[in-house]
Amino acid sequence: MIDIWQEFLRTFHTQPEVVAQAPGRVNLIGEHIDYSDGFVLPFAIHDVTTVAISRREDSTITLASMQRPKDGFSTNYEMLVPLTGEHWARYPLGVLWALREKLGTRNFQGLNILIDGKVPLGAGLSSSAALECSVAVALNHLFQLGQSLPDLARITQRAENIYVGVPCGIMDQSISLMAEAGCAIMLDCRDLSTEKIPFDIAPEHLELLIIDTQAHHSLVDGGYAERRASCEKAVGILGISSLRDLSVANLYEEGHRLDDLTFRRAKHAVTEMKRVMAAVVALKARNFTELGLLLNQSHASLRDDYTVSCPELDLAVDTALAMGALGARMVGGGFGGSAIALIHRADAPKIREAIATAFTEAHFKSPRFFNSLPSDGAKVIEPAGLK
Ligand code: GLA
Repeated sequence: MIDIWQEFLRTFHTQPEVVAQAPGRVNLIGEHIDYSDGFVLPFAIHDVTTVAISRREDSTITLASMQRPKDGFSTNYEMLVPLTGEHWARYPLGVLWALREKLGTRNFQGLNILIDGKVPLGAGLSSSAALECSVAVALNHLFQLGQSLPDLARITQRAENIYVGVPCGIMDQSISLMAEAGCAIMLDCRDLSTEKIPFDIAPEHLELLIIDTQAHHSLVDGGYAERRASCEKAVGILGISSLRDLSVANLYEEGHRLDDLTFRRAKHAVTEMKRVMAAVVALKARNFTELGLLLNQSHASLRDDYTVSCPELDLAVDTALAMGALGARMVGGGFGGSAIALIHRADAPKIREAIATAFTEAHFKSPRFFNSLPSDGAKVIEPAGLK
C-alpha cells in the first residue's frame, strides 16, 4: 500500500484522494451457468488489485500501471469510446464509460489513475474483474455516486461486455465486490442476492490447491461466446426465459426438440445447477467427501458435455485425483487457466510434485501453484490512514 502511495506521488506529483482494492476469485462450483441465471459458489482469493486516484483540473484521464511502467495511457472524456486492441487501460476506461453511461456526465472530471495489480494474470483467477471492481469502488467513493454493490457489479460487467468486448457473465465482478472472508458466497445470478456459506476447511486438515496450468488456448474468446449461444438456442427452442427454469427431468422430457450438441450444453447447465445446491448442502453438513465427488462430476460435465476443458486442465485434475485429492475440477471460463483440487494438507507437497512432473513429461509449461483462504471483497482504504 505504501508502495502505491509513493509511486503515485512520483508519477503524478500529487497525492491520491482515494485508494481502493478488489480481489480475484476462484469458483468452488457452478461453472458456465452465471449467464443462464444460475446459482454459483465462488470466493475471493487474497490477491488483490489496488488503485489510487486523484482528480485533475482538466478533462484528461491519465492511467499508469506499476506492473507496466512503460505502458501508460492518456485520453479524455470526449474520446471515451470503446477501444479496440489489447491495452490494459480498456478495463478501467470501460468502468468510467459505463458509469458515465448510467449516471451522465455531471460528476466526472479528469483523473490520475495508478494501478497495482497483484492478481496473477492469465490464470483464470479474474484479474480483469479485480481491476474493474477496484476502479468502480474507488470512483463510487470519490464522486459519492451512491451505487450499491449489485449496481457496481452490473456496471463493471457492462464495461467488460460492451467496452472491452468480452461477453462474460456476472459472477466474477459480483464476487470481487461482495465476497466475505471465511465464506464462499452462494450468488443468485438472476437477482444478485447472496447467502454466505462457511468454507472452513483448515480444521479438517484440508486445503484447496489452485493449479494455474499456464495454458491459454486461442479458442477462448469464440469458444465462450459459442457456449453462451448454445444455451440461448436451447432457451429459444424450449420457450423458457433461461436454463434456470429447466429441471433435469424437464430436459430429458423435452430434450428430443434439441439437436445433440445443444442438448449436451443444456445438460451441463441444468446438472451443474443441481450440483451447486448439493454442494451447499454438503458444505453446511461439513461433508467434504461429498463436496469432492461433486467437484469431480462438475469437471466431467465441463469436459465431456460442455467441452471447455483442455489437456492441461485434465492432466492437473487427473493427477491430483490419482494422488489422493478428494475432488478436483477446472475453474472459470476454461480452455486453459486454473484448476482447483480439494486435498489433505499433508498431501500438498507430493501432489504439487506429481502435477509438475506430469506436466514436464507431457511437454506442457510448468504449472504454478497457489492456495488461498476465502478473503474479503473490494474495499476503499482511506488515504488519510496511509501517509
Ligand atoms: C468466466 C466469465 C464468468 C463465468 C465463468 C464460467 O470467468 O467471466 O462470467 O461465465 O467464465 O463460469
